[in-house]
Amino acid sequence: MNLQQLKDTAAAMVAPGRGILAMDESHPTCNKRFEKLGIPTTEEKRQEYRHMLLKENEMGQFIGGAILFDETIRQQTLDGQPFAERLQQIGIVPGIKVDQGAKELALHPGEKVTEGLDGLRDRLKEYYELGARFAKWRAVITIGPDIPSQACLVANAHALARYAALCQETDIVPIVEPEVLMDGSHTIERSYEVTHAIQKCVFEHLKEQGVAWEGMVLKPNMVVSGYDCAERADVQQVAEATVRCLRATVPLEVPGIAFLSGGQTDEEATSHLNAMNQLGQNLPWALTFSYGRALQQAAMQAWNGDSANIDRAARVILHRARMNGAAAKGRYSTEMEQAA
Ligand code: 13P
Repeated sequence: MNLQQLKDTAAAMVAPGRGILAMDESHPTCNKRFEKLGIPTTEEKRQEYRHMLLKENEMGQFIGGAILFDETIRQQTLDGQPFAERLQQIGIVPGIKVDQGAKELALHPGEKVTEGLDGLRDRLKEYYELGARFAKWRAVITIGPDIPSQACLVANAHALARYAALCQETDIVPIVEPEVLMDGSHTIERSYEVTHAIQKCVFEHLKEQGVAWEGMVLKPNMVVSGYDCAERADVQQVAEATVRCLRATVPLEVPGIAFLSGGQTDEEATSHLNAMNQLGQNLPWALTFSYGRALQQAAMQAWNGDSANIDRAARVILHRARMNGAAAKGRYSTEMEQAA
């Protein structure tokens, strides 16, 4: 393990005013989003789409790292350049999703555990050769009347820690993603309780496996009310609860925390991040974004599967990247949306 290299990679991923573009949707997820818009679910269309996302050179000013899916890291842009090389060219660190999805947790109806540890050491070595310098593994925690169970928290935290140790051994920075889903009618207090529990459990397991704090990035959910909660917490409440939770669980040495968007609207996700960075709490870690949907959805609609729309759609995602880059510095305002 080369700790200096891990630190340098992590620093580049969450550099001031930059965040991470999650463009690592698996085939089923990507196809589902294409189908909704009537876009053909072919390899060629996925390639064209991802070419569009990285078309603007300026993306590198706001994006420090981009997470690719296995298919994409082996593909080329429409100009014939490998995607990992395209990312390096515009100053973005290439990353790779390495988990193999959340599966039913045995004996625990309604709960999931993420798989993918078997053979991971060899897969990481290959991805390193292909240019990846960081990886992602997502665990999924569902809130319900009697869940999550301790069994679910421990199984997922253990897998995340094993994954993170394997990454660091290969000089790949692990993004550790324990996602508490926003589905349900739970309150923000319940969201806090579960988010706190999983984060605490994850850091205990990371410590046990010897993972170096300086060479990892945490990708958490924000502490929000469930989608169907009767009284949803406002932006300020979300910002305060989220930062309070992180202060209670995340070691000071972790260089960066990059949030998932989890189904928030584009402007909600940007406003929440901005509010956290405006709290003026002199936080020890960079607080930034690692959004999938909240960066991509407007651009996907603008593209709509038509190559004639590539240039316009590329400017749409550049705009969202710029807004979130501003939020990562606490300098976003909704007027900036109108100005564009
Ligand atoms: P969302 O921002 O769409 O939640 O996706 C982020 C991600 O990478 C989930 O693993």
